[in-house]
Order: sequence, then C-alpha cells, then structure tokens
Amino acid sequence: MAASTKHPGKRIAERGLARDIVASDVAPSDVARSAAHDRPILEVQDLVVTASGVAAALVDGVSFSLARAQTLCIVGESGCGKSLTALALMGLLARPAVRVARGRAQFDGHALFEMSDRELSDLRGDRIAMVFQEPMTSLNPAFRVGDQIAETIVRHRGLGRAEARERALQLLRRVRIPAPEKRLDAYPHQLSGGMRQRVMVAMALANDPELLIADEPTTALDVTIQAQILELIADLQRDTGTALILVTHDLGVVAEVADRVAVMYAGRIVEQGPVERIFDDPQHPYTVGLLGSLPSIGRREGRLATIPGSVPPPSRWGPGCRFASRCPLAQQRCVTQRPELEQVGEGHAAACLRLPIDAHLDTRLSTQLGTHPDALRDIRPEADRGTRPHTRGT
Ligand SMILES: Nc1ncnc2c1ncn2[C@@H]1O[C@H](COP(=O)(O)OP(=O)(O)OP(=O)(O)O)[C@@H](O)[C@H]1O
Ligand code: SF4
Ligand SMILES: [Mg+2]
Repeated sequence: MAASTKHPGKRIAERGLARDIVASDVAPSDVARSAAHDRPILEVQDLVVTASGVAAALVDGVSFSLARAQTLCIVGESGCGKSLTALALMGLLARPAVRVARGRAQFDGHALFEMSDRELSDLRGDRIAMVFQEPMTSLNPAFRVGDQIAETIVRHRGLGRAEARERALQLLRRVRIPAPEKRLDAYPHQLSGGMRQRVMVAMALANDPELLIADEPTTALDVTIQAQILELIADLQRDTGTALILVTHDLGVVAEVADRVAVMYAGRIVEQGPVERIFDDPQHPYTVGLLGSLPSIGRREGRLATIPGSVPPPSRWGPGCRFASRCPLAQQRCVTQRPELEQVGEGHAAACLRLPIDAHLDTRLSTQLGTHPDALRDIRPEADRGTRPHTRGT
C-alpha cells in the first residue's frame, strides 16, 4: 500500500475490476472452498457495553460479521465507542466498572462472552491478537523484546526457548526491522516508536492468529511511519489470510485495505457496508460529513473530515438519534425516535429516519457538513441515484 494521492474511489473501482476478472476464472471446486472460507470467523450481535454511573450504553447494539481474511475498518470520531467495542471482544474491558451488558460474539463457534477468563486468555495472543495504539502499554520495559515475543510463542505453542527465539527472529525480519539479530536483545526504550510498533505487530502475529484487531495502531507515530506500519499490517494480513478489524481515522487507508466499513457515532453503528458503497453512496449524514475531504484526498487530507461541533458526552445521549444535535437534516422526531439500521443496498445498511438521503444532498446539507456540493456529486455518481432499494421515505 503506497502513500498514494489517487482518489480512493478510483482505487476502489480498480479493485472491483480486479475482483471481476478473478471471479470469472473461478473453478467450481474453488467455489465450494471459497464458500467455506467466506463463513464468518466473527459474528457480533447486539453488543451493549455499559459503565457504572453512566446511564447511556457506551456501545449500544453493535452488530457486524467478519469473514476469514476479510478486513473491516471501523471509523468514527473520538468517543464513539470503537475501542470499547474492540476491548469487549478481547475480554479486556475494565470490569466490573465497564462490562458487556448484552449481546453475543461468536468467534469460530466460540461464544466469547461466555468464556472464562482463563479460556479467553488462552485465545488472546494465539487465535485472536490485538495491536494497541501505544506499544509501551503492552511491552514490558524490563524485558528484551526478543524474550517478550518468544514468551508468547512458548506460552501458546509450547516451543522450547531456542526454537521460540528463532521464531522471534523470523518475525522481526517479517515486520522489516533493520538488523533484527541486534534488536532481539534490545529493551523497548532502546527502540524508536515505529520500531516498537513493529515489535507489537510481530508479537501479535507470533502465533498466526485468525483474527487481528488493530486499534488505531499508528496514532502515536509520525505521518511517514504511520503509512509504513499500516502498509506492513495490510501486507501481512494479505499474506497470512488473517481477518482484520482496523480502527483508523485515515480514510486513505480505509479505501485501500477495507472490504467492509462500519461507521460509529456515539456508541452505535450508524452505517455499514462494502467499502465501495460507503465511499460511492454514503447514506448517513454523518458518513457524508466524514467523507467531506474525499475529492482532494491524500495521505494527510485522508483523515476524517471535520464536522462542525463534536460528539456529545454520553451524559447527553438521548433516546433518539445521537447525531441530531449536529445533523443539518434533523427534525423534531429525530430527538425522540431511535433510528434502526435498515437495508439500503446489498450488504449496506444505514440508521437514519430520513432515508434515502439522496433527496437532501443539496447545498444545505453539504455546506453544513463542511463538504462542497461538487464533492458529493463526485462521491455519488448521477447514474446511480434513485436506483437503491429503501424502505422509508422522507
Ligand atoms: N471506563 C469508562 N468509564 C466511563 N466512560 C467510559 C469509560 N471508557 C470509555 N468511556 C466512554 O465511552 C465512550 C467511548 O469510548 P471509546 O474509548 O470506545 O471511544 P473511541 O471511539 O475509541 O475514541 P478514540 O477515537 O478517542 O479512541 C467515550 O465517551 C468514553 O468517554
Ligand atoms: S435520524 Fe435525523 S438527526 Fe439522525 S442522521 Fe437522520 S436526519 Fe439526521
Ligand atoms: Mg479508541
């Protein structure tokens, strides 16, 4: 993945073309194999996370599924519940203050929320791995990085020390750390931030996980290093076939690596669908706002656009649409009536009481969301308008 300045929609279109060509070459036996491959490795249903002393659910009815080798990008502004969703799946919520109050998460047939702490910790670092935003929260400053990587291999794979060290060395090579033999014996503080994050990626991949959750893995790094680390994660994901949940603010990266995108706002998924649909035909006013910078996208402009206002704190989340205080399309009913996700296209759903929003893609919506009207025309090709099934009028 290069730090391209191409329009993401263009890159997506090219990817779609590549898929079409591949699909026409598929033999019947491959179809059966691919059907097994497409079975979800993770299915999350109606996940609700609550915290003591906070009336509103911090994660409120989140559902999605992820096929093997697929990449789901979760986007949304700060405080939308992305990390709590990831932590809930990993069994790493700060219990008992923060806990899963409802919902199911099936990982390859295992009900994650019904597993004991012991069972979950056996799964973590083995079949499910996570890369956090700040590597120093996960690396122990007192131990050499090679020993820390080897430790997870010994624990989960039962290899001897020498073999585990050899595998740790291979992993450092795989994450493209220069002079890996030397780095094996380095302490975390002797490495740069970018190198520490590469060590974290090596550690996460140590046991060939089937699911990798990367929660804004590059936010603490400078822009050039961010691109390199995300490129590395995407390359490794493609090579290994690991399913990936990537939480990121970088729309350029989303366009490049995502199969599906979930847009979160104030604890809820407000829109989700195939990446092409989200970029070419966004159906939630919030998504339209986030995509505001699209036409001039580059690595730097690729971050989420700024929408006037900010995500209200959970204490102000009411019963209706939580985006209502910032939405140029809000009506009185939006404040009291909860919009549920409804299908707006194949595999594409949005939660807005005023679907389809095409009718409102006018100057008012676009300028208020900080998006130039021409940009919206670019996002949503004229020929496509009005062809999508929808169930609710304005
Ligand atoms: N332990 C806690 N107790 C109370 N509220 C919490 C707790 N942890 C998180 N929250 C609140 O839950 C909401 C979601 O938090 P979360 O960390 O999941 O957001 P996020 O989408 O990951 O944001 P960011 O992009 O800043 O990482 C926020 O409003 C946050 O303040
Ligand atoms: S439900 Fe109402 S407030 Fe919410 S996004 Fe739709 S129009 Fe805006
Ligand atoms: Mg977070």
